[in-house]
Amino acid sequence: MIQNEKFYFIQTYGCQMNQSDSEHYAGQLEELGYRQTDELTMADVILLNTCCVRETAEDKTLGKIGELKHLKDENPDLIIAVTGCMAQEWQDRLFKRAPHIDLVIGTHNIHTLIDLIKERQQKKEHYLASDMHVPAFHELPAKRFQKFFAWIPIMNGCNNFCTYCIVPYVRGREVSRPVQSVVEEVRRVADAGYKEITLLGQNVNSYGKDLSSHDDFASLLRAVDEIDGIERIRYMTSHPKDMNYDAIDAIAECHKVVNHMHLPIQCGNDALLKKMNRGYTVEHYMDLVDYARKRIPDLVLTTDIIVGFPGETEDMFMDTLQFLKRCQYDMAYTFMYSPRTGTPAATMEDQIPQEVKSSRLQRLMDVQNVYSLKKNQAMERHIYDVIVEGPTKNDKNHWFGRTTGNKMIIWENDGSAAIGDTVPVMVDKGQTWVLKGHIVHKSNM
Ligand code: 5AD
Ligand code: SF4
Repeated sequence: MIQNEKFYFIQTYGCQMNQSDSEHYAGQLEELGYRQTDELTMADVILLNTCCVRETAEDKTLGKIGELKHLKDENPDLIIAVTGCMAQEWQDRLFKRAPHIDLVIGTHNIHTLIDLIKERQQKKEHYLASDMHVPAFHELPAKRFQKFFAWIPIMNGCNNFCTYCIVPYVRGREVSRPVQSVVEEVRRVADAGYKEITLLGQNVNSYGKDLSSHDDFASLLRAVDEIDGIERIRYMTSHPKDMNYDAIDAIAECHKVVNHMHLPIQCGNDALLKKMNRGYTVEHYMDLVDYARKRIPDLVLTTDIIVGFPGETEDMFMDTLQFLKRCQYDMAYTFMYSPRTGTPAATMEDQIPQEVKSSRLQRLMDVQNVYSLKKNQAMERHIYDVIVEGPTKNDKNHWFGRTTGNKMIIWENDGSAAIGDTVPVMVDKGQTWVLKGHIVHKSNM
């Protein structure tokens, strides 16, 4: 090892937006001359990029912060930075909770990292950067963690104020990035050999509403679709209130935009949707799905569902179960409602007891698993193009990749495909969470 070489360790919690932010933190650290390590004990800078959407996410981070204390005791020069949504929410309370933290950096202050590290190297104090009255986007170097898949933020923040959600408080109001800036970044990643991009925002369907141009999500998709080199364009996350036929037409007509749509419903009862301040009804949602399925016949549809929102009766919950049957999702991400201080729902009456939440979550997953399995079994004996991601975590002899619909397929590695290749894979077995298959070679096609 070269002497004086310095290392950083970075851990990301939460959503894809945080993954993207972490790449911008890493980019700055690389510019400062640091190199990435997976070994906590080797690190000179440890950065935890955090999430606060549910209490469980916060608990995980607090546990990790506690684990770092002994490293700091052993090495007082170690710099520990806590960044992201939980940093924005907790601000200097984090220093009180864990004085061994050096830097707390909020969601709009990613660009302050280098200066704060330099200041901390001069003087051992606590440093906080949490001003939200600064631009949400900064031109920052990114160190991308993946070779073929790139995150592209197109907007930051959220204006919706769903009553359970802390995001608008910690990420601020919606700010769209100009089309030109998005297009330039996509061109750069295409030139660098990236095959798949994901356009990121808390609510991509309201893209452009704050811009003086007439651009919207549909026109952005059409602009990005023209860029040579990119094979697949994903987008996250859609909102049923702002998704519309125009956007669905663009998704259907753009060749590179994938056939996967993640459209969170949250629950299947109109009164509860209203209490959540979601801004749509179940029928409006179903109308969008019907149109999307008409325009994109092989659509893969996934959703988010919260159980145990305050006031959710057994009948309301049954409406959600019924809706799963009606909508036939490929997959649902399911959550127990977690009260977030400062949000309206946290102080609503009729909070649901923990046992009821747990049992509803289990019942919900039991129902959805039946449909997930059915959808995956329907893929058996069909061939899908897959971009190879590499060996699975647990078994190096098995490799995996994803279809355009974002379904994960695992196969026994026969050495014929390299990471990043696009290969045809035949599905042999559809399981609830994953598909098993084999690469199809030209000779036996
Ligand atoms: N409790 C439980 N789940 C939540 N989500 C957002 N806020 C909460 C909360 N307070 C879920 C929603 C959202 C997903 C990202 O997280 O389903 O779509
Ligand atoms: Fe939260 Fe609602 Fe915004 Fe999604 S749309 S981030 S659930 S407030």
